[in-house]
Amino acid sequence: MNAELFAAQPRKVEILAGATLFKARLKNEADEFLRTIAKIAAEAPFRHMVTPGGQKISAAMTNCGNSGWISDRKGYRYAQVAPERNQPWPLMPERFRKQAIDAAREAGFPNFSPDACLINRYAIGAKMGLHQDRDEADLTQPIVSFSFGLAAAFQLGGATRKDKTQKILLEEGDVFVWGGPARLFFHGVLPIKADAARPHTLYRFNLTFRRAA
Ligand code: SIN
Ligand code: FE2
Repeated sequence: MNAELFAAQPRKVEILAGATLFKARLKNEADEFLRTIAKIAAEAPFRHMVTPGGQKISAAMTNCGNSGWISDRKGYRYAQVAPERNQPWPLMPERFRKQAIDAAREAGFPNFSPDACLINRYAIGAKMGLHQDRDEADLTQPIVSFSFGLAAAFQLGGATRKDKTQKILLEEGDVFVWGGPARLFFHGVLPIKADAARPHTLYRFNLTFRRAA
């Protein structure tokens, strides 16, 4: 068996208590997901928001679902409309929702009920600094992340910013779930690199399903 085939085998890896990686879980559905993301973006375009401190966020973002995560000078929050559009976010596709709920259940979170999905688009060089996801109302619900396109070195730390981080490779079709004792762990994404084996793949897409309200 060659290395590439081996790497593509779906498998479940417990990273630490509350954090589970499902390698290659959605690999066969990547094209379908990418087409659906393109449809969502045709309705609610990707854009670069700024942090409350005024820094441009290097990942371009959009959302689907009842609420969407936004950031501007006024702060980080969930909103039912994008400030610049004043229209509801596109519906969360039922297929996305079901896949997120199934993964959460298999990771030990049987009551996951996502109402928001943040979609991040990283160009080569884009990154995300260490942060906690803490704008959601119900922290007993996990975060479920799907990755497509270029791979990322995802950093997972601990409950404080200075905790040591470990690097987790998130590749196309990987699903990563964190909740319970890991729910407020710091995490981030190192600068995305080009892949010489996929010269036409210019972006990484990451979807995070959340219970916002
Ligand atoms: C996030 O933390 O919101 C995104 C994580 C990722 O892109 O993998
Ligand atoms: Fe996050």
